[in-house]
Amino acid sequence: MIQSKKEEATRFQEVNRVDKEARPVYHVTPPTGWMNDPNGFSIYKDKIHLFYQYHPYKDIWGPMHWGHCTSADFISWDDLPVALAPDEDYDASGCFSGSAIDVNGEQILIYTGAAKRAPGTSTKLAIQQQCLAAGDGTDYVKSEHNPVIPTDMLPAGYHANHFRDPKVWEYDKAYWVVTVAMDENEHGHVLMYTSDDLMTWHYVSDVLASDGKYGGMWECPDLFKLDGQDVLIVSCMHMKDSGPGYHDGYGVISCIGRMDWESGKLLDPVYRPLDQGGDFYAPQTIEMADGRRIMIAWMQAWENFIKPVDQKWHGMMTFPRELRLRDGKLVQAPVRELERAWVNPLQIKDVVIAGGTAVEVPGLAGRALDMTVEVTKADCKTLTIGFAESEETGVTFVWSPEKKTIVCERKLWGVQHHVTDTYANQEIVLPDGDAPKLRFLVDTASVELFINDGEETFSITYYAPMDQRSIRFKTDGSATLSIQKYDIDPRAAMNAPERTDA
Ligand code: FRU
Repeated sequence: MIQSKKEEATRFQEVNRVDKEARPVYHVTPPTGWMNDPNGFSIYKDKIHLFYQYHPYKDIWGPMHWGHCTSADFISWDDLPVALAPDEDYDASGCFSGSAIDVNGEQILIYTGAAKRAPGTSTKLAIQQQCLAAGDGTDYVKSEHNPVIPTDMLPAGYHANHFRDPKVWEYDKAYWVVTVAMDENEHGHVLMYTSDDLMTWHYVSDVLASDGKYGGMWECPDLFKLDGQDVLIVSCMHMKDSGPGYHDGYGVISCIGRMDWESGKLLDPVYRPLDQGGDFYAPQTIEMADGRRIMIAWMQAWENFIKPVDQKWHGMMTFPRELRLRDGKLVQAPVRELERAWVNPLQIKDVVIAGGTAVEVPGLAGRALDMTVEVTKADCKTLTIGFAESEETGVTFVWSPEKKTIVCERKLWGVQHHVTDTYANQEIVLPDGDAPKLRFLVDTASVELFINDGEETFSITYYAPMDQRSIRFKTDGSATLSIQKYDIDPRAAMNAPERTDA
């Protein structure tokens, strides 16, 4: 029997599935092979759906498929069959990023088809156009009208091979998407289109463009209202010297301003880095029925690949985060559902760290946990908190009260690719105020740091053998800490009663 590309990919995934025990505990990872951007993050038939850029066959990027998983609680995820495979001329080079929407009970995916390269052409990239597929939550069929937003709907002067990443929403009985496109100066623009039926689209506006300060080309736009303001999120390629809190390379910015719906432009945008870590890219958000705006991102960035050589999966997502605006700034908190997975609580007050050598606190160790550290007294130049440390492994966070920074250093254990210095050692710029409150979400191969209840965040991956479970503290002076820790057990969340305030 001849298998379709989609069946072939699903079968490969089933046969080569990496044991869940060998993957992070409460973060989404691919069953096998390579994962990048989250796609189609949505609620459909009462389940949370997450699709993602997927190349099941290798641990490196390749012709993009859409992988698919669902969850009831953001913590445990079930893998589903591959949703899209690159099997048509208009997407033969890959089914690139996109989003999903529930339309009269059908789940509609809108994605970028990277077309087959015309024989004999010298361009590195194929043309990119926006395409549709419809499904029931498991099986998806591509539309015969594809591409529905072809390259001839680009304004004059934009590159046909850099037109991608549609994010769809419904408003006022119409559908809207924002996509990105590259202009003649290789700068990214966020373009908006609208449609009554998802099939016939009209160009609306050029919402916002890069002027080069925050990278050249932009990717994966998302536009939404939050706490009375308009928020545009974009992922920026090749940033350089963008200012405090930014790092060179690939990063994500939030642009907070006011949408003028007459002109379709975002006015008076204020730019900020969305996460200061080297492993954070291509976030996508959904609005929940209870009004919460929840974001998930690829916990990785291009040019920054590390992983043990024999590890058969590559790439993971951040833990989903609730977004709020506080004093004009996006703040992020792990979704509150995580509390349902809290087990083995440990609360220690007035732990005094001193003496210049690294110490462990009794009962405090592990690779899947949620730990908050508050410094109640500090008389030191540096305080270091380190995870899974050994000669060859570990990730450390060195807080300097004087400089008001934290430096994150990670050792590159057993890694397949090397990373530039930008990513091996990174400086986190802290918000104003005294000692920061530090909440670490640790899971197997990553640490997400939420500073002062998410005023700043920092996401990083690291690899170490699973028996490295230590958490160590060290200071050159003395520091008094208050520590609260929970281990994370997804099974506990499954058995926990529903929260009424969620
Ligand atoms: C962002 C991105 C998108 C594109 C996808 C391809 O990480 O480059 O712009 O759609 O990845 O996998």
